[in-house]
Amino acid sequence: MSYNLLKGKKGIIFGALDEKSIAWKVAKRAKEEGAEFVLTNAPLAMRMGEINKLAEETNAQIIPADATSVEDLENLFNKAQEILGGKVDFVLHSIGMSPNIRKGKSYGDMNYDWFQKTLDVSALSFHKILQVAEKLDAINEWGSVVALSYIAAQRVFPDYTDMSQAKAVLESIARNYGYRYGKLKNVRVNTVSQSPTKTTAGTGVGGFDVFYEYADKMSPLGNASAEDCANYCITLFSDLTRKVTMQNLMHDGGFSSMGISEDIVEMINK
Ligand SMILES: NC(=O)c1ccc[n+]([C@@H]2O[C@H](COP(=O)([O-])OP(=O)(O)OC[C@H]3O[C@@H](n4cnc5c(N)ncnc54)[C@H](O)[C@@H]3O)[C@@H](O)[C@H]2O)c1
Repeated sequence: MSYNLLKGKKGIIFGALDEKSIAWKVAKRAKEEGAEFVLTNAPLAMRMGEINKLAEETNAQIIPADATSVEDLENLFNKAQEILGGKVDFVLHSIGMSPNIRKGKSYGDMNYDWFQKTLDVSALSFHKILQVAEKLDAINEWGSVVALSYIAAQRVFPDYTDMSQAKAVLESIARNYGYRYGKLKNVRVNTVSQSPTKTTAGTGVGGFDVFYEYADKMSPLGNASAEDCANYCITLFSDLTRKVTMQNLMHDGGFSSMGISEDIVEMINK
């Protein structure tokens, strides 16, 4: 169902890799709600070619950009404004990658070059996007910027290793840049802390199936799906949430407020 929540709004969506990606679902919903946007991803990720399908379906152009490269980001924001005919109203940062997780390194055996790569790709990229946007004055007044986070920023999930630190930094950037951009241009900046979701990045984390199941059984509403996440992001891009900023917003079916649930007790008692 469409409510025309993003009618006339323009945006940039980072991170649609394939149909399972949260960013893919956000792009589809943004289109349904009347937005116009450009899609972007790392040049390497584009080789898979999947994103072309999404671009066709949403009538969007694709601009490759490595989110760790300020030069790529400058090119992206300049080209996006040319294509869209002006400044943007919303930006989605849906980017995460840890070489340590990919290579199965434990928390006591981190490769520090990779640790820095994790932080650069998954957290500093958010600061770079905001700084480039500010310097180019590329976001309209009352625009909205959202990045996706995970509760491992606050609680311990052993297999999430260095991504836990990346998410803590990401959420801190949302608060600090949210202050700055709010004062400057009334632009709001938030993170959405999403339930475990079956995507390429999600299922790459060791033991994913177990903590997916665990979170589902802990949460009174069950895990939030990628589609649910897309709906929430749309509200944050819309004018209905103009005074929400500098927040880490839990989108997890209630998981973050739970201690233990009857379902988990039942499981352990079996
Ligand atoms: N899947 C989950 O369980 C879950 C839960 C909470 C939060 N998140 C977060 O949601 C976001 C999206 O992940 P997803 O689950 O949709 O998985 P995904 O694998 O579909 O998306 C991750 C994206 O990051 C992109 N990326 C990696 N390096 C990049 C770079 N240098 N420049 C630009 N893009 C780069 C990838 O190409 C990919 O499109 C991530 O921030 C992730 O941490 C995911």
